[in-house]
Amino acid sequence: MRRSITARLVLMFALCVLALFAVIGAVLYGVLGRELTRHQNDELNTNLQNMRYSIERFGDLEHWARLQVKMDTLTPADGSVRFWVLSDDPRFLYGKGLDEMERVNQGEAGHGMLTLPISGRTYRTLSMRIGALAERPPVRLIVGVDTAPFEHTLRAFLVALAVLTLGAVALVMALGWWIARIGLRPLQRMSEEARSLQPRTLSQRLQLERLPVELEDLGGAFNGALGRLEEAWQQLEGFNADVAHELRTPLANLIGGTQVALSRPRSAAEFQDTLQSNLEELERLRSIVNDMLFLARADQGEAATGLTSADVAHEVEMTIEFFEPLLDETGTTVAIEGELRTQATMNIALFRRALSNLLQNAIAHSEPGSRLVVAITPQAGATWIAVTNPGKTIAEAHLPRLFDRFYRVDSSRRDAGEIHGHGLGLAIVKAVATMHGGATRATSANGATTIAFSIADAGRTP
Ligand SMILES: Nc1ncnc2c1ncn2[C@@H]1O[C@H](COP(=O)(O)OP(=O)(O)OP(=O)(O)O)[C@@H](O)[C@H]1O
Ligand SMILES: [Mg+2]
Repeated sequence: MRRSITARLVLMFALCVLALFAVIGAVLYGVLGRELTRHQNDELNTNLQNMRYSIERFGDLEHWARLQVKMDTLTPADGSVRFWVLSDDPRFLYGKGLDEMERVNQGEAGHGMLTLPISGRTYRTLSMRIGALAERPPVRLIVGVDTAPFEHTLRAFLVALAVLTLGAVALVMALGWWIARIGLRPLQRMSEEARSLQPRTLSQRLQLERLPVELEDLGGAFNGALGRLEEAWQQLEGFNADVAHELRTPLANLIGGTQVALSRPRSAAEFQDTLQSNLEELERLRSIVNDMLFLARADQGEAATGLTSADVAHEVEMTIEFFEPLLDETGTTVAIEGELRTQATMNIALFRRALSNLLQNAIAHSEPGSRLVVAITPQAGATWIAVTNPGKTIAEAHLPRLFDRFYRVDSSRRDAGEIHGHGLGLAIVKAVATMHGGATRATSANGATTIAFSIADAGRTP
């Protein structure tokens, strides 16, 4: 069953009231019981002392007869108070059901309880011994008060309490339901506002000032999510525009070149030239499309597969070897530094692709004859591979955006139509790092630029 805040609140209110009434009821019940007992004991005591005084003073039969009359008068018709006098002398006996009294009342003098066998009535009793005087032997005087009214009062109290408690619980549940509905109304308002947000109006936000403080957090989180969504949306729109733009140039070149070639009769050699340059443009298009497909897969959270434990320094060397012709041509050297014995779990092809992109950039952005450095640094559960090259310092503002797709620091070069990359190289480095549970980093200062990526040590072998 789905949870309902209203139902939970109502239930909790009800439990609170129940607990409160139970505690108060128990205390009141205890107090009432004690007071009733005290009251009965007072009554017993008064009656006992009264009779004792009369019995103690006289020992003759004449007075005894008068005492019996007195006890008769003091016994109410409903039998709620009773007297008994027990003795060995049959002349000095008094009370109803004496035979049974003899049996049940053999205990010490003082307070007690007894149930009359015939009527079944229960009496709270107080008894005492009175010494012999003249004709009278020692007697035992017992006074009893009926406990039925007492029990009745307590029962009535319990019933009233139960009825009151049930009523209070029902009332509080109804009120609680009503209060919860009112209290939760701002949630409804929030949903209404959220419902009015359109995809066209992504810059809209919930108005936090209109929400109660308790919902401000939720509203803030919601607005945060909207903000991120808007950013992603804008990035996507920008990306689409970039894709169109990137594809337009090679396509325009293709169309232009072909049109020129077709504009007049040409020799086979001239067509061959055209086809050759067309092929270059087509390959360029293919590499852009391939890179974008790769990034799209990485975006969908694809993790690197085919992981093997590899010697990082070895892989770096193998990648550099691939650049040997270009390095020889420009007179550039590459040094490998850092922890050369590091092992890492990686997809080797992806690792080499990422490092190649970094080396390509480093060579492209440094003067011929420069010394590049590839540093291998194990750090906090990951291995960092950093490529440093001397070259123009990149302004701080560009650094966080270098890894964005199609981002190029010097955009004028693009418009000048110079030969340059697509701006996808570092985006791919970032994707490879992400696929390996790693991250990227770019720093540039004092004429040296360092671009680095990491791969997580998951499954790292010593
Ligand atoms: N080592 C570096 N020194 C200076 N700037 C760099 C360096 N590496 C990258 N950049 C800047 O970052 C931008 C993005 O690099 P990225 O590798 O993503 O794209 P690209 O090299 O222009 O194209 P591609 O790599 O797709 O052929 C580059 O255009 C360049 O301006
Ligand atoms: Mg590049």
